[in-house]
Amino acid sequence: MRTQVGIVGAGPAGLLLSHLLHLSGIDSVVIDLRSRETIEATIRAGVLEQGTVKLLTEIGAGARLHREGFVHRGFEIRFGGAGHRIDLHGLTGHSIVVYPQHEVLKDLIQVRLETGGDVRFGVRDVAVHDIAGPRPRIAFTEADGVARVLDCDWIAGCDGFHGICRPAIPEAERTEFHRIYPFCWFGILCEAPPSSDELIYAAHERGFALISTRSPTVQRMYFQCAPDERAADWSEDRIWAELQARVAVDGMRLHEGRIFQRGVIAMRSFVCEPLRHGRLLLAGDAAHVVPPTGAKGLNLAAADVFVLARALAAQYAAGDSTLIDNYSATALRRVWRAQHFSWWMTSMLHRFDGATAFDRRRQLAELDLMTGTPDGAKLLAENYAGLPFG
Ligand code: FAD
Ligand code: DHB
Repeated sequence: MRTQVGIVGAGPAGLLLSHLLHLSGIDSVVIDLRSRETIEATIRAGVLEQGTVKLLTEIGAGARLHREGFVHRGFEIRFGGAGHRIDLHGLTGHSIVVYPQHEVLKDLIQVRLETGGDVRFGVRDVAVHDIAGPRPRIAFTEADGVARVLDCDWIAGCDGFHGICRPAIPEAERTEFHRIYPFCWFGILCEAPPSSDELIYAAHERGFALISTRSPTVQRMYFQCAPDERAADWSEDRIWAELQARVAVDGMRLHEGRIFQRGVIAMRSFVCEPLRHGRLLLAGDAAHVVPPTGAKGLNLAAADVFVLARALAAQYAAGDSTLIDNYSATALRRVWRAQHFSWWMTSMLHRFDGATAFDRRRQLAELDLMTGTPDGAKLLAENYAGLPFG
């Protein structure tokens, strides 16, 4: 088998890249370990930046997102017993859309298959070979057991944090930057009406909480928990008591309802540099991970592949390698800005064990500065709504 760009991973990065390349007349094959059903059912991100929405719309994958997604023109930061609205639209001219990642994936898979895309689910034994030379290869076994070798011009490693592409780069040729946070998020989906028109990020003495939404009847909520917490150990009453306590303000209670999905989510910051080794190009979570507080992970994956597709298109159309040679540096600049924002939101909003009374007062002063001054709020809003792509 042969293709121009072999793409490992059918997450947001891999599928979006494949379609962007198709629109530039470049062939690709996408392979993924997981089945289409699993990919389309895994609950993850919820917030799309305006740049991601624009890109999905331009490539023809935005119709359902515009019909079913919720446009939010602001969000709330809650601390000290009061809410503080960040007027995203007023401060930046942009909004965000709450539309779950698995719905984005359904739309991308559909558009890719409708346009003749080659996406192979449920493969196994994936390995990349000769990535430093001009003819890299991907070896894998099809879902039906047939062993394949895919010859490529380029390999895109879009296989997430636990994938095989990044480790295929010799250790001496990459540098990895890590931060593990001393807490996790406990995430739930519940059957209830929305408790708020906009997302609420709450910084409480008991720890962080986030109130998001999915539909008029399903809500998504998270709260900071210990790293060794087991989701199954919590009764529904205990979960609601914790959420109610953390978002409490005068006269406001969350609407409660049956909790039908729960899980504990690790919090890490991670970057691997550079994003290219020979003919292997990394994008999305394969190359970097952010803690979810800034809602940046999926959006960063989209921004990476926007830059990467443009670079590959210039290479194929005009033999111009300038953009592909600059891919890593161009993408990493935005990656590090998002890393900073995600770390900053995380440190501003969470409770850190061992924090002193001074640390807590300082944290409240920072929240006051960012929500209570026009310059602070604008900086927060610009980063949350999302930096330009490219
Ligand atoms: P992934 O989505 O991880 O996709 C990688 C794919 O590669 C997977 O389908 C996997 O099966 C496949 N794969 C792995 N190994 C192999 C292999 N060896 N061979 C073939 N295929 C392989 N981001 C936001 O922007 N906004 C949010 O609000 C947000 N909230 C989040 C909430 C939670 C609870 C979590 C967990 C994450 C959240 N994120 C958010 C982050 C976001 O989900 C990720 O950043 C995003 O999925 C990254 O996309 P990706 O395509 O790079 O990687
Ligand atoms: C959601 C997830 C996030 O990480 C975030 O910052 C905002 C919303 C969500 O799942 O809706």
